[in-house]
Amino acid sequence: MTESSNEIATPTTPAAWFSADRFGLFVHFGLYSMAARHEWVMSNEKTSTDDYQRYADHFDPDRFDATAIAREAKKAGAKYVVLTAKHHEGFALWNTAVSEYSSVQTCGRDLVAEFVDAVRAEGLRVGLYFSLLDWHHPDYLIDAHHPRRDHPDARAENAAKHPERYREFLHAQVTELLTDYGQIDYLFYDFTDSREADGWPGKTPEDWDSERLLATTRRLQPGIVVNDRLGIPGDLVTPEQYQPSSPPLTDGIPVAWEACQTLNGSWGYDRDNLAFKEPDLLLRMLIDTVSKNGNFLLNIGPDGRGGMAERDRSRLAAIGEWMRRNGRAVYGAGASEFTAPSGTVLTSRADRLYLHLLHWPFGHVHLPGLAGRVRYAQLLHDGSEIAFEESDPQRKAFNTEPGGQPAGTLTLTIPPVRPDAAVPVIELFLCNPPQASVTA
Ligand code: GLC
Repeated sequence: MTESSNEIATPTTPAAWFSADRFGLFVHFGLYSMAARHEWVMSNEKTSTDDYQRYADHFDPDRFDATAIAREAKKAGAKYVVLTAKHHEGFALWNTAVSEYSSVQTCGRDLVAEFVDAVRAEGLRVGLYFSLLDWHHPDYLIDAHHPRRDHPDARAENAAKHPERYREFLHAQVTELLTDYGQIDYLFYDFTDSREADGWPGKTPEDWDSERLLATTRRLQPGIVVNDRLGIPGDLVTPEQYQPSSPPLTDGIPVAWEACQTLNGSWGYDRDNLAFKEPDLLLRMLIDTVSKNGNFLLNIGPDGRGGMAERDRSRLAAIGEWMRRNGRAVYGAGASEFTAPSGTVLTSRADRLYLHLLHWPFGHVHLPGLAGRVRYAQLLHDGSEIAFEESDPQRKAFNTEPGGQPAGTLTLTIPPVRPDAAVPVIELFLCNPPQASVTA
């Protein structure tokens, strides 16, 4: 592995911090957290804005503690945190001057201000999520996702709307977020679905005037990282709720990317959804992402009062426990040029390789191509030495003695007892240049 294989070609290269940080925390919070049945509840249940108003009327996020969220993020090992400043429901969590539909108007709190201060205070990078959709704004055109899509008057209503007013409103809101809250490191726009569906046209980059919005974004926050969901190329691509089988390419070129993932399939607090991923699965997803040069953005959904759900907190804590000992297999790490044996994943950073053992092997791990390439090996969580050898390929098996391995193979000796770590990692220190191999 050389440093150069960690370099990522993109149309506009994201700030170096983004790809080095590798792990971020997503926070979905809004009125939908009170409904507690998915952040798309308004669309799923085709709720009118009048009916949905009951959440705004009762919104009281007394347990929303941005400092606690930022601290839990840091303890988990996340390096950046992204808050939903506004989701598709249209409710702004900041002091917007262009709408009365905001947390400041309903409960006197600017949650974005609280969030950016708290995240910065913990030394983490600040990200904001902003929905291009807005099911509350009267000039937002009804489409196949809109709660009003099945209303008999919907098509006639669209004819009377002024989409250009909505566009200016959306630009004004983004401008506020990027002007009034200091340095914003990352903007997660969401989303542009230009596919026609059920006789409704999709929304295209022209609907948002994405080119101008992206230019405004970069002008107001030079150096900001912007995702690709304006429907035009940004700094990274954003596979959602699946793990790409190989590093994503754009026009055949590797691009920076970030997998965003939920804990239970819902982004917003979803009380009765118990389909939670366990920490070891989440860690394997993180490791898989890093091994493909990607970032991992893991979501939590604070509850209707803004408090962190225990089932979220405990998972972050377990990830943090692993990250504290194994973080150097993640931060600044990326794909390896070597082949990972079955049941393992390799990540790489400078002169180190990290062998993540998804299953505990019996006795040995054979690493093709690594003979003569390793000067030292240890279990990462406790720094205990791991012995290795290059066997003679001609050696015949005899009773308790295994036969030789193919030329170029390095064999690690693995202790019988699996360490108490969600995913044990072996750190291999590479020789540079490679040493002459015994078996070569
Ligand atoms: C999707 C969903 C949205 C979620 C987002 C996170 O676009 O519409 O609910 O916030 O993905 O990436």
